[in-house]
Amino acid sequence: MKNKGLRGVDAGETSICTVGEKSDSLHYRGYDVVDLSENCSFEEVAYLLLYKKLPNKDELRKFKSRLKSKRYIPEQLKEVLERIPKSNNPMDVLRTACSFLGNLESEKNFDNQFDCSERLLAIFPSVLNYWYHFSHSGVRVSIENSSDSIAGHFLSILYGREPNETEEKVMNISLILYAEHEFNASTFAARVCAATLSDIYSCITGAIGTLRGPLHGGANEKAMELISKFDDVESASKAVYKMLENKELIMGFGHAVYKTQDPRNEIIKKWSRTLSEGKSNSKLYFISCEIEKIMKEEKNLFANADFFHASAYHFMSIPTKLFTPIFVCSRISGWTAHIIEQRLDNKLIRPGAKYIGKDPMSFIPLNERS
Ligand SMILES: CC(C)(COP(=O)(O)OP(=O)(O)OC[C@H]1O[C@@H](n2cnc3c(N)ncnc32)[C@H](O)[C@@H]1OP(=O)(O)O)[C@@H](O)C(=O)NCCC(=O)NCCS
Repeated sequence: MKNKGLRGVDAGETSICTVGEKSDSLHYRGYDVVDLSENCSFEEVAYLLLYKKLPNKDELRKFKSRLKSKRYIPEQLKEVLERIPKSNNPMDVLRTACSFLGNLESEKNFDNQFDCSERLLAIFPSVLNYWYHFSHSGVRVSIENSSDSIAGHFLSILYGREPNETEEKVMNISLILYAEHEFNASTFAARVCAATLSDIYSCITGAIGTLRGPLHGGANEKAMELISKFDDVESASKAVYKMLENKELIMGFGHAVYKTQDPRNEIIKKWSRTLSEGKSNSKLYFISCEIEKIMKEEKNLFANADFFHASAYHFMSIPTKLFTPIFVCSRISGWTAHIIEQRLDNKLIRPGAKYIGKDPMSFIPLNERS
């Protein structure tokens, strides 16, 4: 079928983001992600996505202060989180938390959409880390800390100490790189839901479920599973050639829109290298580089944003099962911007399908069927 998976089809209009326009670049509301990641905090980028402009100093201060005041977890939600076992997928934890929060703090009408967006942006790092600590060590961790950034807040609860400057910087950059990506699968799911005029919690719950799959957000965890199998560059090289021979997918490579490069890769790759320096497991960086080289030579495929995120997060001692949920903590900024945009000029999204089934037939009563 032509355009299978809606490749190359414009399924709507947006002024939030361009992916791969002209060259393989990425822009959020006209700003290159390279500039944003070098010069901004994640909060500035989230503000840009939600409020359509970069904040001035006063707007940023007030935004950060609002986010800080919205980090708390209601007691009923803590009770729910405490019932979810350690063995569960943390993406299911965030999906449930979002849906449950929608019961506690429902979006009464669309006038609340910015409030709800900020609330979700602020609460996901608290929810994820609260559940992680309780389910893994039985500790009701405090989500109070002095950090005024989402990156600092996240790492402070995860580590139980303040992150160092590099850790906080890389987390900040990672959140910026994952913040927005036009009509990707999870954002499109959120917009389809928003187009029915449903509430924001339903839209985001659907988006989390969509991001969960290994062909989308789950690729960074799968990339980690792959690189951590190998003891050295040679064994990685041998195994990847074998996988390609067997026509296996190598997670963290290829992209539905970019043709020559994913502009986020060079940025996170550079930080993965910096983080690897002086680490006992720095081989993971070199193993990743070797796989990247083979994929380019053998398949002409480039590493996407997920591949070097795996080693970078690992060097920051982030448990693998939290990789994709961190993507949620970031992409919530893009999702909510898209929901708000969809509502502004709404039309129910209802495409057609090319029918490939049987021609019309005579009905056969139950007792005459073989
Ligand atoms: C992202 C992805 C779904 C894009 O898919 P797409 O544009 O529809 O491209 P296709 O799946 O049609 O792939 C085209 C060809 O490249 C191959 N290919 C694509 N990605 C590959 C990968 N990661 N490893 C090995 N081969 C790959 C396909 O097998 C196909 O080969 P064929 O023509 O011989 O059948 C795909 O590249 C993929 O599955 N990547 C791994 C998952 C991943 O990293 N996802 C995160 C995306 S940000």
